[in-house]
Amino acid sequence: ANPSILILAGDGIGPEVMTEVKKVINWFGAKRDVAFDVSEDLVGGAAYDVHGVPLSDATMAKAQEVDAVLLGAVGGPKYDVLDFSVKPERGLLRLRKEMDLYSNLRPAQCFDALADFSSLKKDVVAGLDIMIVRELTSGIYFGEPRGIITENNERVGINTQRYTESEIERVARSAFELARRRGNKVCSMEKANVMESGILWREVVQRVHDEDYADVELSHMYADAGAMQLCRWPKQFDVIVTDNLFGDLLSDAAAMLTGSLGMLPSASLGAPMANGRPKAMYEPVHGSAPDIAGQGKANPIACILSFSMALRYSFDLGAEADRLEAAVEKVLADGVRTADLLGPEGGSPVSTAEMGDAIIAALDAA
Ligand code: NAI
Ligand code: MG
Repeated sequence: ANPSILILAGDGIGPEVMTEVKKVINWFGAKRDVAFDVSEDLVGGAAYDVHGVPLSDATMAKAQEVDAVLLGAVGGPKYDVLDFSVKPERGLLRLRKEMDLYSNLRPAQCFDALADFSSLKKDVVAGLDIMIVRELTSGIYFGEPRGIITENNERVGINTQRYTESEIERVARSAFELARRRGNKVCSMEKANVMESGILWREVVQRVHDEDYADVELSHMYADAGAMQLCRWPKQFDVIVTDNLFGDLLSDAAAMLTGSLGMLPSASLGAPMANGRPKAMYEPVHGSAPDIAGQGKANPIACILSFSMALRYSFDLGAEADRLEAAVEKVLADGVRTADLLGPEGGSPVSTAEMGDAIIAALDAA
């Protein structure tokens, strides 16, 4: 059987950008003989409208069975009034939690044609290609005890940073495995100078390295210094592995090294399934962009590059992923721009569909 993909396009621009990804998937089937069994279902507000919940049990069960989930985006003003328990975002959280997607991969990659677009100097970002691996299912966002209590007549907000050795170990392994397929370098970031969880983090990452990944170059950095280095000279990094909180901040900062939200893909990986592939969900970093939804203005590249990550990390088709990324690079080098990729001086933007078609044409021409 062909490898399987479940598409959950979601809300707002989600279905618009996913339409372009489907063109790309079909192209690989027709021209490269790389075929997938693709099914589609509802998530977010779109699921709420039909089922009264942002992710039905049946859809959840499907997500557990497929080789990879491709998600568009969820949410929108129409759903802001809903109770927290059925908000569109809860559909996403349920997927991440029940699939136990503990390793969140966020590349910060700068296509040469967009180097001027970064807020940093061109030579700092041109050719940048780094990967932040953020622990996604534990740490301070989940640790107990948590809550707001009253103590000495005032309220106290409490969260707990908590990591078990096995939680650190599995995300460290995922970072080392990734590094072997890239620049073979990992920088682990924590704050072992002031946090117990940081001390344990550093120790476990070092042990996993020494036992099983001694061939990978490992360094440790305090996360605050890491933030500075990321802005000063990001090209010194290959893979950065860090906890949930620091990873949230560092990956958002790194993302902006490269320009538009419309360019940023992500992957969330879990434990290997029976067939050896990791549980996996791929999605653009951006949301449903209600301000431009339904107008054909959305940049589909973030979602297309998310599919490219699926080719690489779920299906071991690195050469096909390279082919797709080269097509994106070519189109950008040719000056094809959706509105989000035009600077203040303007220019004439292409539509979502035109960007997708240009990428298909570049694939054909390569
Ligand atoms: P957003 O990412 O949807 O939009 C932020 C800004 O970036 C907007 O001006 C938008 O037009 C622009 N933008 C985003 N993606 C773009 C693309 N592909 N092409 C061109 N421009 C793009 O974030 P916002 O506005 O904070 O949230 C909107 C809705 O999306 C909310 O309901 C929010 O909860 C939801 N959201 C969902 C996420 C997800 O599904 N993973 C992530 C972030 C927000
Ligand atoms: Mg964030």
